[in-house]
Amino acid sequence: MTSDGGPGPSAPHTVNILVTAGPTREPLDPVRFISNRSSGKMGYELAAAFAHAGHMVLLLSGPTALDVPDGIDFLPVETAAEMHAAVSHHIGSMDIAIFAAAVADYTPAAIAPQKLKKSADTLTLELVKTSDILGSARTVFGFTGTLVGFAAETENLEANARGKLTRKGCDLVVANDVSKPGIGFDSNHNEVLLVYPNHNEALPLASKHDLAHQLVQAILELHLSQRL
Ligand code: PMT
Repeated sequence: MTSDGGPGPSAPHTVNILVTAGPTREPLDPVRFISNRSSGKMGYELAAAFAHAGHMVLLLSGPTALDVPDGIDFLPVETAAEMHAAVSHHIGSMDIAIFAAAVADYTPAAIAPQKLKKSADTLTLELVKTSDILGSARTVFGFTGTLVGFAAETENLEANARGKLTRKGCDLVVANDVSKPGIGFDSNHNEVLLVYPNHNEALPLASKHDLAHQLVQAILELHLSQRL
């Protein structure tokens, strides 16, 4: 407490946190879609760990098989466009935004109104770029809070993550090498490199549950340092 009875700089402070998680599904026709191997575990563990620490969490998630953690607000979405719209609508009231979702970079140019028929020996799909939601946070949505991206890389982990940190205006990028067996997509474990503007910090192999608690501590410290 300070002398005026208000909270001191290190007093507990409830913050509003948006977490994106899971894959998106980009429909081709009424029964088929393009997606990826994200299970949502990393994002759901983060959401649960922030809620456990007493914070207000909104989890925006693509389709997963996971139970929604207790004590959080939950908004399910399906496509990259739906996730973009949901983030755009909610990010303005957030103190921290964390993008753990594996959002499709491309979506079919057109959705067939009927189930596509098998006829020719080959089928060529035309895909168009989706909007970069994380990349829009600063420039389009005007977000001024603490911005945390993820980077799923199969090579040049630090350099590629640092490129995303700069291009997307992040305060921190959590980089994982998704070519390593046993971590990353659909695993219960992960191993990440925290890439900050002026330094890196490696968090060794751990369960996503334990890692999420370490990430909560790192992200809250970063947020508090920015408020001073
Ligand atoms: O879900 P799990 O099975 O637990 O796996 C966890 C994970 C591997 C999905 C997670 O740790 C992870 O790395 N999430 C980010 C996956 C990703 O798509 O990374 P990227 O390097 O392609 O994208 C960079 C960042 O931009 C990410 O924060 C992503 O959410 C964001 N992005 C990407 C494309 C897009 N159109 N909009 C975005 O916001």
